[in-house]
Amino acid sequence: MEAPASTANLGAGFDVFGMALDGRHDTIRVEESGSHSITITADGGVPSDPGRNTAGIVAGAMRDDFGTGGVHITIRKGVPAGYGMGSSAASAAAAAVACNELFGLGLDRTTLVRYAGYGERASAGAIHYDNVAASVCGGFVIVRTDPLGVTALRPPEGLALCVAVPDTKVPESKTQVSRGAVPKSIPLGSVTANVASAASMVAGVMDGDIGLMGESVRDMIAEPARMGMIPGYGDIKRLAVEAGAAGVTISGAGPSVIALMDGDSRTGEVQAAMREGFARAGVGCTTIPCRPAEGARTVEEWP
Ligand code: HSE
Repeated sequence: MEAPASTANLGAGFDVFGMALDGRHDTIRVEESGSHSITITADGGVPSDPGRNTAGIVAGAMRDDFGTGGVHITIRKGVPAGYGMGSSAASAAAAAVACNELFGLGLDRTTLVRYAGYGERASAGAIHYDNVAASVCGGFVIVRTDPLGVTALRPPEGLALCVAVPDTKVPESKTQVSRGAVPKSIPLGSVTANVASAASMVAGVMDGDIGLMGESVRDMIAEPARMGMIPGYGDIKRLAVEAGAAGVTISGAGPSVIALMDGDSRTGEVQAAMREGFARAGVGCTTIPCRPAEGARTVEEWP
């Protein structure tokens, strides 16, 4: 089972918008263990303790709720952990979809997102379904948290993206720290501006208007609170837009930055601009050109 990386928020859609990205993915294999236990073999520095691994938490919850047996999970991490590309979500989503298939549970997508969210809650310290919904469903997703509802839309064909992942160390609790920075009380003007941006983003996706999507990443809530945690963020954003990006924002809880582009023609220039922005702050980065991805799917090849 392969589940894609994802970017959350897309500017104004804090905990609401997500998009699956084809630039990186996690691959997992789930096999019946013949016992009640959940066991894990994982690479990429993620925990093999099933109570601390997002895939293990999901598999454990599904075993307990549906009375299935235990499983052994093998994880090949492809999504860098802790950088705002939905790494914990990719493993959680892959586990939910794989257990559903292995045991023939016949669960619908919203239920799979709910189970994948259990893993994400353990990793982020709070429930947010934006990354897991993107990894399960693919494309662009809109999430309503309570009660859980997921709307998946097909992004415009021409949408290209570039994620710049800084070469900085991130603490294990990065998402918790980054979420803690977002204010709990928001001035009405900021809320109004974000509702306008979010509504325009959805219109951009539905109309295939990548220019409108780029303009609509404008965020008055999370970005101002988090940008100080990303060295060079102002320069990265300005340089990438000058190089042809339609819009630039923080990828999920950061510290990666994502640029939206209309087609591939400016990808090289935008990558260089993002590298230059980080370099001006003394930080190297890896740039990952992406396209929107399909959701978690069965694959024959094992990486
Ligand atoms: N919506 C979440 C946040 C995504 O911004 O904290 C975390 O990947």
